[in-house]
Amino acid sequence: MRSKITGTGSYLPERIISNDDLAKTVHTSDEWIIERTGIKERRVAGDDETTSDMCFQAAGKALEASGTFPEEIDLVIVATMSGDMPMPATASFLQQRIGAVNAGAFDVNAACSGFLYGLSVADNFIKGGTFRKILLVGAEMNSKFLDWEDRSTCVLFGDGAGAVIMEPAGDDSGVLSTHLSSDGSMWDFICVPGGGSKYPSSHETVKDGMHFIKMRGNETFKVAVRTLEKLVMDTLAANNMKPSDLAMLIPHQANLRIISATAKRLNLPMSRVAVNLDKFGNTSSASIPIALDEVVREGRIKEGDYILLEAFGGGLTWASALIKW
Ligand code: UT7
Repeated sequence: MRSKITGTGSYLPERIISNDDLAKTVHTSDEWIIERTGIKERRVAGDDETTSDMCFQAAGKALEASGTFPEEIDLVIVATMSGDMPMPATASFLQQRIGAVNAGAFDVNAACSGFLYGLSVADNFIKGGTFRKILLVGAEMNSKFLDWEDRSTCVLFGDGAGAVIMEPAGDDSGVLSTHLSSDGSMWDFICVPGGGSKYPSSHETVKDGMHFIKMRGNETFKVAVRTLEKLVMDTLAANNMKPSDLAMLIPHQANLRIISATAKRLNLPMSRVAVNLDKFGNTSSASIPIALDEVVREGRIKEGDYILLEAFGGGLTWASALIKW
């Protein structure tokens, strides 16, 4: 029994911050950001908005699209590294807010790969027959974890949420395979060092900015390109498929140069690659479900299409999923 996505939804905060806006506060330029990343602007949540508020908006649209009532949901999973609080899980806030009164709820944290890790968990719960309807959301409020004076990170990230409803497929469509990998030896390539058991929050950690996202960008970039090129080919090989079988690539939105390199390896024209980082920046675990919702609503994928989802991020982690739509 395969699992399939029966509804998608997304939410982006209203406030737009352009590259020129950032150039007024840090030493950067629209040209540098576009050339090095492909990002033109990003969305930033309001001061009173929370990650679960964004989840609620995206989840509502996914429930509506799939014709699912909240009380039918068996499990709520939120993939996030920027939840409402360290505890409880953001999924608990969402479960209550959405009225999923019969559901379990927990978060998955695999940084930017989180949505695909969550997809793999949901897929296996459905395949194994444990649950029938799962709400999976990828949501990030990166803006509240950024040092807005650090040009090497503040220009990259954005806020947003994307949601899917997953249930048994009943035919040969759905998730064909998921692939999860990691290498924790490079944990410090992307991290928020402070506020956990290693460096508990203190005046010192806050003074040193340890509650902000730190990234060794160039080193991460090199590993990402190499890893993703192999990952997409391995994912196809595991399903006895070739790049030309793919209708669409839905990659994590970290950097247009990384996305283009993966597309080139697959020999896919960019018209068959979902790209939204120009508008939203890197929304971490939300980037794939937001991009998926866009291509679904634009009618860019149709029944029977093979689509490949792939992500790379903090951990380091990387993951992929091959889906027959
Ligand atoms: O989502 C999780 C996974 N994340 C990724 O995969 C991100 C991977 N990394 C990247 O996307 C890229 O490495 C960045 C976009 C972060 C940086 O691009 P880069 O081509 O690797 O640049 P760099 O870090 O090597 O920096 C080049 C120069 C440096 O100046 P010097 O040392 O050459 O004088 C930086 O200080 O660019 C400088 N720089 C900036 N200049 C203007 C760094 N940030 C900025 C900035 N504006 N915002």
